[in-house]
Amino acid sequence: MTAARGPGEPVDRLVTSGTFSLDGGTWEVDNNVWLIGDSHEVLVIDPAHDLEAISTAIGNRRVVAFVCTHAHDDHVNQAPALADRFGAPILLNPDEMPLWRMAHPERQPDGWITHGQVLHAGGLDLRALVTPGHSPGSTSFHAPELNVLFSGDTLFQGGPGATGRSFSSFETIIESIRDTLLTLPGDTQVWPGHGDFTTVSSEAPHLEEWIARGH
Ligand SMILES: [Fe+2]
Repeated sequence: MTAARGPGEPVDRLVTSGTFSLDGGTWEVDNNVWLIGDSHEVLVIDPAHDLEAISTAIGNRRVVAFVCTHAHDDHVNQAPALADRFGAPILLNPDEMPLWRMAHPERQPDGWITHGQVLHAGGLDLRALVTPGHSPGSTSFHAPELNVLFSGDTLFQGGPGATGRSFSSFETIIESIRDTLLTLPGDTQVWPGHGDFTTVSSEAPHLEEWIARGH
């Protein structure tokens, strides 16, 4: 799923494998790591699982930031090691700190992401949309020039992200999806933290079904 403009530009998708642990359980997971930029600089969303594969994908480019959609350990486990290796900041919404502290008690993020904040990489804008529910400060990123939404674990093909574990709320994720994500143009491609992509218009008609089924 690489968009036009040259190999790996402006968006590269890397699928990495590892585990997610919370509430005493551990699960095998595959994560999407997104690299957005050009041949000079890159912004990395959700540095998961594979330090060497992500380092190789970055290459000798300058890293603008390691940006975390949320702080479940599968999305942030390589953030400190990569931040040290590439001398780049880790950015996160502050409401994710209870989860961040569980993943990395020894290390703070370097900066905060807030709703509406715009990040830049390789001439592209990436607007932060704070979309809580899956976790308290879950954040999606909209790249209007690419017509792409990086939705983290908030919106997937087939419905909202999981809300059955600690620090989650089904009512809140529905509100975030309805009031923030589904207001984007219908042809916006939605690229989540796991699995395949979808579009706003393919998901929007199912909102009432999700509410009725409760997940
Ligand atoms: Fe998650």
